[in-house]
Amino acid sequence: MIKNILALETSCDDTSVAVVQDPGCVLSVVSANQDAVHAPFGGVVPEIASRNHSLHILPLIQRALLQAKISMEDLHGIAVTNRPGLIGSLIVGVSVAKTLAQVKNLPLIGVNHLEGHILAPFLSDDSWAPPGNFKFPFVALAVSGGHTSLYRVDDIGKYTIIGRTKDDAAGEVFDKFGKMLGLGFPGGAQVDRWAQKGNPEAFEFPRGLIKEENLMMSFSGLKSAAHRLLQSMSADEIENKKADLCASFQESVVEVLLHKLQMAVDLENLDTVVITGGVCANSRLRSAAQAWAAQEGLLLVMPPMRYCTDNAAMIGYAGLKRLQNGERFQMDMGPSPSSSPGDLKESLK
Ligand code: KG4
Ligand code: ZN
Repeated sequence: MIKNILALETSCDDTSVAVVQDPGCVLSVVSANQDAVHAPFGGVVPEIASRNHSLHILPLIQRALLQAKISMEDLHGIAVTNRPGLIGSLIVGVSVAKTLAQVKNLPLIGVNHLEGHILAPFLSDDSWAPPGNFKFPFVALAVSGGHTSLYRVDDIGKYTIIGRTKDDAAGEVFDKFGKMLGLGFPGGAQVDRWAQKGNPEAFEFPRGLIKEENLMMSFSGLKSAAHRLLQSMSADEIENKKADLCASFQESVVEVLLHKLQMAVDLENLDTVVITGGVCANSRLRSAAQAWAAQEGLLLVMPPMRYCTDNAAMIGYAGLKRLQNGERFQMDMGPSPSSSPGDLKESLK
């Protein structure tokens, strides 16, 4: 019986380790955030990310087991993100996971990072559990620094991409805009903080592809429009209008996301919606989504922040379900920068 899983996540810049217990209880999740080391470069530097993963991962495994109050002997499997992501970063998690699985003779499962995000709402702990009536099928909006996609989720392993950005991810443009304003890296949370004091109608930003009757999104036009606007303003003006700029920019992103989510719900004729990924931390997205769902009579599940941003617990959940289904990866498992062909079916609407 597969009950306790050790999970590793090193696909980008956060090193994270979790112990997840059947049916989805997070016994521990510990992470090392690398924002401070990448901040001077204004973005994630892959070589630095992998070097830091190798520094952090073993101490984090020790801490995760300690916090979960279980030993390696109590584990029934090892789950690790092996795709998609930065290759140098993935290699660290994959090598450690394979070694542990080999030495401890435990079953091994490689997990798609995006599957982790999609299934994160099923996790539970002392202070969070999904609503009792939350179940498949549902529409999921996974919105992060690397991805902005809409999925129809029918079951574990049954994910159809029904919409996505055709250029930049929403988190990426939040970060770029934050950088243009000199708010540091990653800028998303800073833009959110400034926006809370600003007027969302002060500036007009484009709403990419909002009028198109499909689930495609685009954020590169917004990024260019923001760049042009800031170039037309003096440094003093920008400084004085920072809050209004952030609020107006943020409103444009949130409006596009929720508009496309509404279309997805209508097209799929579903009444359960998940929003997940790092951008789900955005306070305006959260409040606007809640108001929208209440008005439409939808069941909206947004995992708590600790399970929205990159974390190993979500990988543990996906790994647990797959191991329980009898899936196993062999010792020649490798990391991949992209999803495997069967992972996420694409049927764009
Ligand atoms: O899921 P995540 O932790 O990592 C990826 O897989 O990308 O998402 C990180 C992204 C970054 O772009 C970050 O700026 C954005 O999520 N983010 C936010 C906020 N907090 C994090 N964007 C807008 N508002 C926030 N409060
Ligand atoms: Zn992610």
